[in-house]
Amino acid sequence: MSKPPRRIVSGSRPTGRLHLGHLHGALRNWIRLQNEDAECFFFVADWHALTTGWQDTSGIRASTRDMALDWLAAGLDAQRVVLFVQSAVKTHAELHLLLSMIVPTPWLLRNPTIKEQARELGLLSGDDDDAAMSQLNYGMLGYPVLQSADILIYRASGVPVGIDQVPHLEMTREVARRFNHVYEKVFPEPEALLTEVPKIPGTDGRKMSKSYNNAVYLSDSEADVTTKLSRMATDPRRVRRTDPGDPADCPAFNLHRIYCTPQEIEQVTVGCRTAGIGCLDCKKIMIKHVLADLAPIRERRAELEQTPSLIDDVLQAGNARAQVAAEETMAHVRAAMQL
Ligand code: TRP
Ligand code: SF4
Repeated sequence: MSKPPRRIVSGSRPTGRLHLGHLHGALRNWIRLQNEDAECFFFVADWHALTTGWQDTSGIRASTRDMALDWLAAGLDAQRVVLFVQSAVKTHAELHLLLSMIVPTPWLLRNPTIKEQARELGLLSGDDDDAAMSQLNYGMLGYPVLQSADILIYRASGVPVGIDQVPHLEMTREVARRFNHVYEKVFPEPEALLTEVPKIPGTDGRKMSKSYNNAVYLSDSEADVTTKLSRMATDPRRVRRTDPGDPADCPAFNLHRIYCTPQEIEQVTVGCRTAGIGCLDCKKIMIKHVLADLAPIRERRAELEQTPSLIDDVLQAGNARAQVAAEETMAHVRAAMQL
């Protein structure tokens, strides 16, 4: 008898157009998984976006569509994976509610990822973490419970996420264990699928982010990519062309690491340390590879944009498929809880 395929689930909050950080951080990993023997559910976590963005929701729809468009352009195949929008599959909310009944608040109050969020929101300033955590909105505090529902509703065994999400995954496993123990065994305990994520700084050397205005987008024109990367931060010691530097201290070199051949890496490393190569020439070697990587993505995006209804059609079909799988689990949950 053949084993049923592995279930994989992951989500991403709608950030709009995707940049190189997203491509190498999550997307390439998702694309790899879709080509393995696994049943994949990938979704836009638009409800999760509300935990921080509840006041101004005007951009959510556009961001959702833009992100989904980039997913397809980069190579996610809606025939092989289920692409959907969290808020369209209402059963996530039903499971979230039921799970919230069995989750002790201390599990939420000690979640380090939520603490980090609170810190970013400026709520945690100093020593009294507990007082600050009590300032959080209910939805934010319950963020990991909703995430648990997102995962458990597909009875997933693997969740490809970044290392920052590991506390949420651990909580998801605890929630699954508790449910299985109190009622009936309905949920497998999902595992975080961590992969080595290459570091991709933005053009100014800080973390690549829309809000820092330092991102190279998958949808940028060839000219824009070239300009942005040509101006990217380098080892600050290379003030003049004749000053030697070290690739280890060069933000741009992180892209060389991903894109260049071993011979090119060697050439650039020697050239940098001996001032044998100028930074612009050095970057040109890398830029050529980035452009070659992004060209087919840009082309596919343009092609997909020819059919304006396409994204909505793809997501609607995905929503329906996700709903069927989610409903199947919910039937077990309701039965186990005798509802
Ligand atoms: N919390 C995740 C993030 O910020 C997004 C997310 C929501 C998610 N639900 C999920 C990821 C379920 C994996 C599985 O990136
Ligand atoms: Fe960076 Fe290359 Fe300049 Fe060295 S020569 S600092 S690796 S861009």
